[in-house]
Amino acid sequence: MFRFGVDYYPEHWSEERWATDAKLMQDAGINTVRLAEFAWSKLEPQDGIFDFDWLDRAIALLAEHGIDIILGTPTASPPAWLMAKHPDAFLVDENGRQRTYGNRREYCPTNRAYLEHSLRVVRAMAQRYAVRDEVFAWQIDNEFGDRCFCSSCAAAFRKWLEGKYGTLAAVNSEWGTVFWSHTYTHWDQIPVPITTGGAPNPGLALDYRRFCSDSYVRFQKRQIDVIREECPETLITHNMMGFGYDKMDYFDLARDVDIVSWDNYQRNQFHGLQADADWRGSALSNDAMRGLKRSNFWVMEQQAGPAGWDIVGVAPRPGELRLWAYQAVAHGADAILFFRWRTARWGTEEYWHGVLDHHGEPGRRYEEIRRMGQELVRIGDEVLGSAPNADVAILSSYDSRFAFQIQGNNPRFSYEQYIASWYRAFHRRNVSVDVIQLAAGLDRYRLVIAPAFHVVTDDDAKRLEEFVKAGGTLVLTARSGVKDETNAATDLRLPGRLRELCGIHVEEYDSLAPDMSNAVRLLDRRISEHGSLAIDCWCDVVALDTATALGAYEDDYYAGKPAISINYYGKGQTVYVGAIGSGEVPEGLASWLIELGRVEKAAESPSGVEVAVRVAGDECLVFVLNHTRERQGITLEGEYADLMDGATHRDNPRLEVPPLDVRILRKRG
Ligand code: GAL
Repeated sequence: MFRFGVDYYPEHWSEERWATDAKLMQDAGINTVRLAEFAWSKLEPQDGIFDFDWLDRAIALLAEHGIDIILGTPTASPPAWLMAKHPDAFLVDENGRQRTYGNRREYCPTNRAYLEHSLRVVRAMAQRYAVRDEVFAWQIDNEFGDRCFCSSCAAAFRKWLEGKYGTLAAVNSEWGTVFWSHTYTHWDQIPVPITTGGAPNPGLALDYRRFCSDSYVRFQKRQIDVIREECPETLITHNMMGFGYDKMDYFDLARDVDIVSWDNYQRNQFHGLQADADWRGSALSNDAMRGLKRSNFWVMEQQAGPAGWDIVGVAPRPGELRLWAYQAVAHGADAILFFRWRTARWGTEEYWHGVLDHHGEPGRRYEEIRRMGQELVRIGDEVLGSAPNADVAILSSYDSRFAFQIQGNNPRFSYEQYIASWYRAFHRRNVSVDVIQLAAGLDRYRLVIAPAFHVVTDDDAKRLEEFVKAGGTLVLTARSGVKDETNAATDLRLPGRLRELCGIHVEEYDSLAPDMSNAVRLLDRRISEHGSLAIDCWCDVVALDTATALGAYEDDYYAGKPAISINYYGKGQTVYVGAIGSGEVPEGLASWLIELGRVEKAAESPSGVEVAVRVAGDECLVFVLNHTRERQGITLEGEYADLMDGATHRDNPRLEVPPLDVRILRKRG
């Protein structure tokens, strides 16, 4: 069954209302709700005194309406009594300031008392609901994240280091603590990198980020172990925050869950009021979340109305909620839950609008979601069992991302935005992309892009070499191979361990100031239609070993020197892109790379119309998503059946898609 649902907080409403809610949900085709992930103080009103009766009644009522349950463990938001009893369980931020009570996510993930309380409430819930078949899945906590710098974390960090390096001598040598006389003679001297310590040693700072991420991975695993013991049949997930979130290694966090889920907000108010929805950003996040386990995923929170905490966000235009949800499906979502059912009357999120407004009467947004729910009752089973199938992978590395957080290299450079610029160039051309880590393996791809692949191990270099040797096309860029795994600068000529593969070395580099710019002239006739590409951030002056130049700088003292090159290596080839600018470089190279890598594209489409494909055996489902406010037409090759109305379209049909609407087609043959 395709899981279609909402995040529901029965504890926010009087019990008399619950039946109306359940009925409205059922009418909208809702078959799943997530419950209880912030209900700790209702579940355990006093230390060790549990009250599950209200939750039993809510689950029973929903079950009567054919609705299954994903239960959230409530550990993201502790009750006041717990934090009053264990004030040392508050998180300490990077400025050394301890959180106080009044929001959420204020706990330290290594605090023993917090862990014990967490495991106790999780076990009590798991024992209670092990017998209820409607509870088919669990969500652990909610959006793991913020780094803690408290004394418990400092002690745990030192243990973690001991486990990793064995001896203090090894720590000193790997981090190069001889610099500025930081040599440690006792484990307890090793600091945590709070801001009062100034710019930290990069080795220590990277290890601390890895440690913080591991702390949540461990905290999650302890909860998972309890649930697996009590409810062995159940699915377990955690709701992540998409590609944009940068404090956790999501590949590690995904390892222990059965299925990845994430929270998908196309137009939230946190970056100011946005007229345009960030649907390309959502495409990237969907693909990045699918890439964590290289498998389909759930959307645990899909935008259901105007977002808002203090500021009230722009209202989603008619059609957008359904369109965004189908976009996630097109990218591999096998479940969509809208956040939230009804807009809260109290609390920080009073203006984060749900399917229903504060008044609780169904309106335009309810009708749109009901339409989708009814459609999924008809087509959901056909969608399940299929998945996107990409020829192209973009490599994402949290080690590199963390390293750039510590040393940004150039204020204009952002690792996330650089990856996004490569992603967008392919997404615009309707090329399906997997966003993965290198360890996932590259065999199935024709083209792999490794933007600013900064922290590189010997093993990484070997994997990339094998991929190219076997016939793959690899794109590596400036700031690759700069660091080893301890975040020390390599003593090899750049790109370090990747030099032979690229067939070049970097003679020198130039980090551009805001009022500086350069341009790259493309030398190869196959790509020269793009002429010249603007550069405003970084210039590697490339010296050719075995590679051939494809582009050269136009200005400055290195005018005429290579900026982009290609190296034939084994049966494949490596393109080195030494210049970083705005999105122009990926945009200028993408069409040529698609041909070079012999990559399949879904279809040509007008700007603002996305075509994405899910494949099942010989069949495929083609999603044509019109993100514009005008009617659009598209011509597809072949023969199609429309999943919604069953109509057949033969001989390269031209199809119309209304504004902010979607067509889902099964390709025949
Ligand atoms: C998500 C979070 C929800 C809710 C929502 C709106 O990130 O998981 O609990 O806070 O944002 O702010």
